[in-house]
Amino acid sequence: DWTPDQFVQTTIDDLKKQIGDDKVILGLSGGVDSSVAAMLIHQAIGQNLYCIFVDNGLLRKDEFEGVLESYKHMGLNVKGVDAKQRFYDALEGLTDPEAKRKAIGKVFVDVFDTESHLVENAKWLAQGTIYPDVIESVSVKGPSATIKSHHNVGGLPDFMKLKVVEPLKTLFKDEVRLVGKTLHLDENILNRHPFPGPGLAIRILGDITPEKVAILQEVDHIFISNLKKSGLYNEVWQAGAMLLPVQSVGVMGDERTYERVVALRAVTSVDGMTADWAHLPYEFLADVSNEIINKVKGVNRVVYDISSKPPATIEWE
Ligand code: XMP
Repeated sequence: DWTPDQFVQTTIDDLKKQIGDDKVILGLSGGVDSSVAAMLIHQAIGQNLYCIFVDNGLLRKDEFEGVLESYKHMGLNVKGVDAKQRFYDALEGLTDPEAKRKAIGKVFVDVFDTESHLVENAKWLAQGTIYPDVIESVSVKGPSATIKSHHNVGGLPDFMKLKVVEPLKTLFKDEVRLVGKTLHLDENILNRHPFPGPGLAIRILGDITPEKVAILQEVDHIFISNLKKSGLYNEVWQAGAMLLPVQSVGVMGDERTYERVVALRAVTSVDGMTADWAHLPYEFLADVSNEIINKVKGVNRVVYDISSKPPATIEWE
């Protein structure tokens, strides 16, 4: 029978044999898969694992600093790369969802390629690919899928010429979490909701500006911290907020306001392929809505998304 302890033991032994004294590069995302992959490889080869964590300026509030700190605390050899401005520049004026995804994928590849060159003599690229990514590679829109689609013509970036090591390739998400638990992965990363590679860029409908990112980060932070405080965070598969490209009329004191609308989305799901909107308590939604409107300047209306997938997707873009 499969047990996480035994998986950890055999995987570490296998990785030692496979990799030997070679250097390995791994892109961390802050999510559970890449983090567990990094921990396993770290246990096998220690400081020969070079982790790269890119700040694309589209992460949640304080996420880059917080997660980087956890990684360092775990003893990982990790480099945080601030590439915010490069992503914002590439996104400037883009409104089409696929164009935004492509621009983000391209900058990510460029940044990652540059960073991987700084690791001399690297032989391997490690990835946190899990079993559903392998069998459903067509429907998975993860970073690796993005990378591949843009580099199938012409020269591959150098890091893609590395040999690939994917220690989680046979596991389902719940098994990855069990392995992470065995390895004492930070609770905060272990039970983290899935978060899309293009991040907040696909939750800001229309064009991206740093100002919009800042607004959405505040809204999202209020929503997520209230879910955690109320014990609801682990009851939903994924939650987040969308910044809509419309303004609506409101009233504050004697003044008429004309400000932004945000939509909150929380879903229950097993694998993200189908999903139901989460039936969060009305009182909870009322509190979150009040807090957002009171605290986030520029937002005067909050709506809750009650669509299931299909036909609606989880993300709005
Ligand atoms: P949808 O919106 O298609 O999302 O119902 C299903 C799951 O996939 C995530 N998602 C993405 N993940 N890059 C990613 O890495 C993407 O472009 C992307 N689009 C959606 C979404 O957050 C949900 O977990």
